[in-house]
Amino acid sequence: MASLPDGPSVPAAIATMRWLRDPGAMLEACARRYGDCFTLRLWNQPPWVVFSDPEGIKDIFTGDPALLHAGEANEVLKSVLGENSLLLMDGERHLRERRLMMPPFHGERMRAYGETMRDVADRAIDSWPIGKPFAIHAEMQRITLEVILRTVFGLGAGPRLERMRALLVRYTALGTSRLGTALLLLMPPRYARRIGDLAMDPVRLGPFALDLSRLLPWRELLQVGREVDALIYEELAERRARASAAGDDVLTMLMAARDEAGQPMSDVELRDELLTLLLAGHETSATSLAWAIHRILEHPEVLRALGEERDRVTGPGPLDVDQIGNLAYLDATLKETMRTRPIISIVARKLKGPMRIGGRDLPAGVVAIACIHLAHQRAASWPDPERFDPARFLGKKPEPYEFFPFGGGTRRCVGMAFALYEMKIVLAQVLRRVRLRAAPGSRVRIERRGITLAPSGGVPVILDARLGLGLEV
Ligand code: HEM
Repeated sequence: MASLPDGPSVPAAIATMRWLRDPGAMLEACARRYGDCFTLRLWNQPPWVVFSDPEGIKDIFTGDPALLHAGEANEVLKSVLGENSLLLMDGERHLRERRLMMPPFHGERMRAYGETMRDVADRAIDSWPIGKPFAIHAEMQRITLEVILRTVFGLGAGPRLERMRALLVRYTALGTSRLGTALLLLMPPRYARRIGDLAMDPVRLGPFALDLSRLLPWRELLQVGREVDALIYEELAERRARASAAGDDVLTMLMAARDEAGQPMSDVELRDELLTLLLAGHETSATSLAWAIHRILEHPEVLRALGEERDRVTGPGPLDVDQIGNLAYLDATLKETMRTRPIISIVARKLKGPMRIGGRDLPAGVVAIACIHLAHQRAASWPDPERFDPARFLGKKPEPYEFFPFGGGTRRCVGMAFALYEMKIVLAQVLRRVRLRAAPGSRVRIERRGITLAPSGGVPVILDARLGLGLEV
């Protein structure tokens, strides 16, 4: 059998604790000791062989998807997203479902959402207090959640939108708490649901009276999850009763889709895909936006350059979303943010047969990891990698095996164009309408939130001035 590359020999439980506590530091320590490729052994996981050099990454992203199963490698998400989530599929079914889900996140269909994105950002900006510190991360979450509820779910203002918003805020907070993260990453998915049911319907075990429902935070996570499901099914039933397929939202389109046998998606399938888009599509963009604002405020020269570009390209008056494509420095700033602070540190593929990756022969069963965090810091690809310098991206198309915050190959993020468009509109609007500064004394570290790496403390800022919608002072 092929031997695996070297890696830390600490017991799996200890390696897992490190991975949970500070994945970035762990990956960096391994890279310093073992170089571009090493093996991690975590609790309850097959060996992970981690790659960060362009050759290895290219092999992972261009290899045969029949041999490189991302769905299987993403199994930890099953207890949250359900087994019919695109993230958990492989093979033909994955390709078919992906083809179905791509169109609204691209081209004209996506651009039709631009004004919604801008208007949602405006309403949030209008509510920010002047002169008092507030956490910008929470505000970005508010914006991106609202955008996704309106564009993907097609919910207009009303009680269902209010309830869904409140539930998803709670669900995300619980799911990304320490307990939620530990449950997500440590609980074998096949047990998660069963134990969940036990916690929902308390069982007393004889004289010991072990009441599992007392595991309260976890129980709340399950409970909120069920309420989210109920609301989704309510919306599906109502739409079916209305029987009109009007609407330019993603759900309308998923409901209208038919497979080769002419069958529509079942309610459970629709629920799983909808939840995937709602969860994958808002926390990610919000966290990248929070990092972008943090990094911009840390670098006054970047803030100045963004201001100059804004004045030169978009001029006065409300933002014309069609101008977004002309903001090259803003685009570069966002990319440099995602290079230096990628919110997802790795993407994984389970090997279904022996494969040669990055010049190494690997056996079936191991998980090949394309390490975003390390690849984005490689000095060979990024001179002076710690330096925050958006100009690196000006006039250059980054190499897809050196810069891949959205993953790659046939599994690259479905929402990439949508997320970039949304983040640029929100940032452009923030830069046009408010003068922000970092709240004094705030120190921001990289902190795990669920499967993402987020700024600690929510990035406290102070708003010094706000311009109106017409940008009159
Ligand atoms: C800054 C924002 C975002 C980042 C950094 C991000 C990152 C990622 C990454 C790293 C993957 C895994 C790719 C791989 O395995 O190679 C992924 C997959 C995915 N993302 Fe995103 N994402 C973002 C926003 C969104 C949005 C807005 C949506 C939808 C509305 C979305 C929906 C998905 C879906 C459905 C997949 C699964 C694709 C598949 O398995 O074929 N993401 N994303």
